[in-house]
Amino acid sequence: MINELYTIGDFIRWGATQFNQANLFFGHGTENAIDEAVVLVCHALHLPPEIPDILWHSKLTTIEKQTVLDLFNQRIEQRIPTPYLTGEAWFAHLPFFVDKRVLIPRSPIAELIEQKFQPWVEEPNEIKHVLDLCTGSGCIAIASALIAFPNAEIDAVDISPQALEVAKKNIKRYDLEQRVHSICSDLFSNLSGKRYDLIICNPPYVDSHALETMPNEYHHEPRLGLEAGDDGLLFVKQILETAPDYLTADGKLIVEVGASQSQLIEQYPNLPFRWIEFQRGGFGVFLLTREECSFISSSSYV
Ligand SMILES: C[S@@+](CC[C@H](N)C(=O)[O-])C[C@H]1O[C@@H](n2cnc3c(N)ncnc32)[C@H](O)[C@@H]1O
Repeated sequence: MINELYTIGDFIRWGATQFNQANLFFGHGTENAIDEAVVLVCHALHLPPEIPDILWHSKLTTIEKQTVLDLFNQRIEQRIPTPYLTGEAWFAHLPFFVDKRVLIPRSPIAELIEQKFQPWVEEPNEIKHVLDLCTGSGCIAIASALIAFPNAEIDAVDISPQALEVAKKNIKRYDLEQRVHSICSDLFSNLSGKRYDLIICNPPYVDSHALETMPNEYHHEPRLGLEAGDDGLLFVKQILETAPDYLTADGKLIVEVGASQSQLIEQYPNLPFRWIEFQRGGFGVFLLTREECSFISSSSYV
């Protein structure tokens, strides 16, 4: 078979067909088989994924063919998500180093960052202190620092020292060591005395049952980044209760809960969640002011 394929175009077409035949799951950075094949072929050939038309008909050497086939095999047989094979994921139009120590960035919060949190944050340039809780690769902290909040110091917090190694690598890559600080902490436990204008959080929110039935690709990601108890709200509840102590008087809390949105509304029927709408898709991200979450323990909200 390898002798019947010659060009970049041949390998992309053939790879995409194989991926579809194998019923791979897409959703870790790309949405279809053709895009995945483009990313893997270009990675193997040390080319950017936007291939100029002139290169589609370029032939591969025997060694290059083998490299591409090895990547295709790992993707199909082990169901390893493409960003773990290439070591790179894109978030808010920025590349991030990733490996199996961190969740692959894909939060719809990227769109909010690109829009400088409009209309939710009135003066992004005046934001001074931001917390990215559950930072993983550091993507939310770093993209926020670069795109939305040029004058802010941002704490990038995670309980996993392994994830923080990856976050530090990304912070260094963007030369942000002076403004983005990685901190090892179980949620807020090592943040005493701090106050933030904005807390952004994409915590684990998959309920234990759903996790077992998710496509194989998800099982390559750290369980610590996904699993959140029987109802998916293990962390979100703690965050709602504790966040007011770490927000400034007019501070805001933005949290992604994904498919656990309905559970959350059921459990806190009177909390005035604002559910943010996204043009590129994605859902389950709410915003609350400090004042609104401060009433969490009062019977009128729970
Ligand atoms: C859903 S991932 C989000 C990663 C990243 N913010 C993103 O959007 O791609 C959740 C992260 O929360 C971290 N985590 C899990 N439990 C935690 C805890 N108790 N305190 C702080 N971080 C925690 C995991 O290690 C993981 O990196």
